[in-house]
Amino acid sequence: MHYNLIIREPEVCGVLDFCQKNGIMLCAYRPLQLGQLSRPGINLLDKIAKKYRKSQSQIALKWLIQKDGIIAVTKALSFNHIKADLDIFNWNLENTDIEKLNNDFPVQIRTSDCSEPRIFKF
Ligand SMILES: NC(=O)c1ccc[n+]([C@@H]2O[C@H](COP(=O)([O-])OP(=O)(O)OC[C@H]3O[C@@H](n4cnc5c(N)ncnc54)[C@H](OP(=O)(O)O)[C@@H]3O)[C@@H](O)[C@H]2O)c1
Repeated sequence: MHYNLIIREPEVCGVLDFCQKNGIMLCAYRPLQLGQLSRPGINLLDKIAKKYRKSQSQIALKWLIQKDGIIAVTKALSFNHIKADLDIFNWNLENTDIEKLNNDFPVQIRTSDCSEPRIFKF
């Protein structure tokens, strides 16, 4: 599913919870929201990146993969980006920072912008 710090659909629609309760891996695509989460400018992300001496991308990816049963599939053409994106397995975010990212991330959108338009018939 489309899932990242901005796009929260799997949390809102209950799929994340269902997967976690039933031992199903959830694959998060577009984890950097096309690079939007790789750039400085989002205060909370910048502060946490600075605290851990990591990049904004690394924090955004770590927030996903540190959750139970989540893998992330990102895309990077730059060799340096690929190297950095893989360097997220030997350190952890503290729970308090995960909570801040869960709850205080300033832009949280409830549906994926990749979803088909939904037509409801009554
Ligand atoms: N199943 C589906 O319906 C679906 C829909 C959308 C996407 N996907 C898949 O999900 C994967 C990733 O999605 P995506 O490409 O849309 O978005 P993404 O991985 O969220 O973002 C890719 C962008 O992030 C940049 N980036 C990566 N690491 C970076 C770093 N360390 N620092 C700065 N910039 C960095 C890349 O730049 P560079 O390329 O310049 O390195 C690229 O512009 C793809 O394999 C795609 O096929 C699946």
